[in-house]
Amino acid sequence: MQRIVINGGKPLSGRVPVSGSKNATLPLMAATLLGRSPSVIRNVPDLRDVQTMADVLRSLGATVDFSEHTMRIDPAGFSNTEAPYDMVRKMRASIYVMGPMLARLREAKVSLPGGCAIGSRPVDLHLKGFQELGADIALEHGYILAKTNGLRGAEFNLSGAAGSSVGATCNVVMAACLASGTTVIRGAACEPDVVELMDFLTKMGARIEGSGTSTITVQGVESLEGIVHSVVSDRIEAGTFMTAAAITRGDLIIENCPSMHMEATISKMQEIGVVFEDVGDGLRVRGNAGDFRRTDIQTATYPGFPTDMQAQLMAFLATVPGTSIIKETIYVDRFLHAAELVRLGASIRVLSGIATIEGVERLSGAPVMASDLRASAALVVAGLAAEGTTIVNRVYHIDRGYESIEKKLRDVGATIARVSDNEPDDATTPPF
Ligand code: EPZ
Repeated sequence: MQRIVINGGKPLSGRVPVSGSKNATLPLMAATLLGRSPSVIRNVPDLRDVQTMADVLRSLGATVDFSEHTMRIDPAGFSNTEAPYDMVRKMRASIYVMGPMLARLREAKVSLPGGCAIGSRPVDLHLKGFQELGADIALEHGYILAKTNGLRGAEFNLSGAAGSSVGATCNVVMAACLASGTTVIRGAACEPDVVELMDFLTKMGARIEGSGTSTITVQGVESLEGIVHSVVSDRIEAGTFMTAAAITRGDLIIENCPSMHMEATISKMQEIGVVFEDVGDGLRVRGNAGDFRRTDIQTATYPGFPTDMQAQLMAFLATVPGTSIIKETIYVDRFLHAAELVRLGASIRVLSGIATIEGVERLSGAPVMASDLRASAALVVAGLAAEGTTIVNRVYHIDRGYESIEKKLRDVGATIARVSDNEPDDATTPPF
């Protein structure tokens, strides 16, 4: 098992680079299957989830080469219509191949993603969209079986009880690109990752209007071609570094910071008292420029406050005087990190999707257990501020979404290391 060991209590300072966005890369990789020729994606983060998606594409017949953050995907051999359980259980985003499979192969057998540490996470909206486009869907033996004799454009609403869905919007738009006629999707997601995919598909030859709004119109085309594209920086990794600067009362310059996609996170942190300054080649984040004040946060779809930053902000607010409230509306059960933060000395109560955080003067290091990707990021952030030693177990979660996290933090002054022992990892990875 690998663990991250942190000796906290030191303000971070210096420059920290942000890698390419994981959640933008994964749908782009799937989209390359729609092309008749190879695509090259640059600035791809070297992460476990990216490697898993590469394996999924290979299992479908594509050729994938990945080195030095550049990925070349040749879809020439794309002919397999099954994404098996062993792949999908490792990563829910594997379901992104379903849209391209239906569009190009007219058939898909994809394992149903199971439960997940952050909630139940259904895929009903993906399936609804495919059905609207004319696919027949059946569920059998844990698999989604989808077939069509040709997708046809349609007009429908894709939002669910929690609002719009990033994954369903991406998946259904990919299918609609090669459908006959016009598709109008209302209630579409507006997240930057969705916009990135729309840009990518448009470069491939797709005809899409309304990207970044809640109504997306896709005019089906006969075929798409491979392209060269560079992925945007990861807004959640950048936000995680912002909380690391703030909680350690440090001073960081975040390089390649996609500030234009981070308004909700930045303005909430400004409200608390963190100072931001655009320094041309980066965003300076100062956690040492004055006193902090409590706040209330409610997660929401973009441009609202992102659920993927909720855990890290909770860690920070645990050290801010006063009583702060966090309401989680996207994944109401995404609070497993709260009890682990309490082990580090935080004062947090969670009831019915709402966390009440009483700021404490100091956190104190302890062994803690990561339950998912952002929870593990929050525990690392808290460990950076905690007095003494924090040991974060199950760090395989963090490798799904943060490239070289210990090195990046060490380079700005953190005392942090990864240690390995012979104990086996004590849990299978929950997919998310
Ligand atoms: C993406 O997941 C991200 N994952 C998640 O990031 C992120 O938390 C989430 O969007 C919300 O921003 C990737 O991009 C790979 P959704 P996704 O479909 O697409 C409900 C991380 O930490 N819903 O937008 O699966 C759903 O339960 C990960 O990097 C349905 O009801 O999220 C949730 O309440 C974790 N039916 C809401 O919609 C569906 O068919 C939003 O989910 C699909 C979703």
